[in-house]
Amino acid sequence: MLALHGNILHFLDDPAHDQASSYQYVSDGYLLIVDGRIHDISTTHPGDDWRIVDCTDRLVLPGFIDIHTHYPQTDIIASYGEQLLTWLKKYTFPTEAGFADAEIASDTAEFFLSELLRNGITAAMVFATVHAVSVDALFEAAARRDMCVLTGKVMMDRYAPDNLSDTAQSGYDDSLRLIRKWHGRGRARYAITPRFAVTSSPEQLTAAGELFRNNPGVYLQSHVAENHAEVDLVAKLFPDQRSYLDVYDTHQLLGERAVYAHCIHLDEQDRQRLAQSGAAAAFCPTSNLFLGSGLFDLDAARRHGFHVGLGADVGGGTSFGMLQTMNEGYKVAQLGRRRYSALDAYYQATLGSARALYLDQDIGSFKPGAFADVVVLDTEATPLLKRRMSRAESLEDVLFALMMLGDDRCVEATYVRGQCKHRRAAA
Ligand code: GUN
Ligand code: ZN
Repeated sequence: MLALHGNILHFLDDPAHDQASSYQYVSDGYLLIVDGRIHDISTTHPGDDWRIVDCTDRLVLPGFIDIHTHYPQTDIIASYGEQLLTWLKKYTFPTEAGFADAEIASDTAEFFLSELLRNGITAAMVFATVHAVSVDALFEAAARRDMCVLTGKVMMDRYAPDNLSDTAQSGYDDSLRLIRKWHGRGRARYAITPRFAVTSSPEQLTAAGELFRNNPGVYLQSHVAENHAEVDLVAKLFPDQRSYLDVYDTHQLLGERAVYAHCIHLDEQDRQRLAQSGAAAAFCPTSNLFLGSGLFDLDAARRHGFHVGLGADVGGGTSFGMLQTMNEGYKVAQLGRRRYSALDAYYQATLGSARALYLDQDIGSFKPGAFADVVVLDTEATPLLKRRMSRAESLEDVLFALMMLGDDRCVEATYVRGQCKHRRAAA
């Protein structure tokens, strides 16, 4: 029985609905953890039976959840000068080819997951590569850390180098084998992963739809409407479809537990379909700015009411950290004259992302029974933060300054199912 003693914050609902009732904040409280699950939040000392961890003056939040990123792109983060299609050809594909090698895959998976924990991220939906061994490597490394990871083998049968291509049949067979091996094993969840409509033939998209329909509880992840040249290319490849999103819809790839990265260049009909289907959008601001892709429309997402979670989208994204991702989310909102309050951002990084993944029974908040995945944040980790916090006027002001000025230096500790998996080195 473990109690984290600090300033405890978690969300109960989307602040867009009713801000005041959307969160619970208990300053100087005790987060009570029993057998790796949340037991309760107490305002008083729970007694001598409990092991108390001192997090005084720290913010204690549910572990961050990243719903879109690519572990094989760890090593090409911050590569200069290109937009999506050229960037894929020049940097991404050559690097992903290396993941046929189990050792490269497992080395990178180890580094990647440690980096997530250093950034307070306890659950993530992740692209692997076309190689089945790249999926095994990530699930194995995640199981060693007890982390909740959703991943899958990339399906890609055209417009890709030969050494990165499968076929409609082999992509189906390999995916099905991996679903049977991994889906539901501990915290592992399988995600069928057609990369995007450019690199999958209609036959392959049909096969992906079949897998999605016939394997209850599995996930699906892909990309949509990220970049203008990409959208134009998809229109040429699928001339009969009304829109890019409609390509996926036609192949029965929308629905609950489907996550689409970017969703920038959509129209109202597309957004309506996302909302009706229960599919989620992954908002990936650092990537959208870095690759010059465009500005995600947060207001339209709210209006239509589809799920939106946050994605670092490494290596198109430029940071593993959720604080920096929220920081650039705010700038994307500003450039589009849209709202992105601190409450919106922290909700999105925790309960919002959990809801997008239909995992909010288990993660994303401190409701009793949820897994005790926790991040402890030091709001005064740097001299500048300390100075700025001395004039902070409210909880929202603290949260906002932290997301604008903070990074991995603010992550004091990360707990997975009640076990400390990362602790910042002493200063
Ligand atoms: N679209 C297809 N593949 C990718 C990828 O690896 N990264 C990004 N950002 N967009 C994509
Ligand atoms: Zn991506």
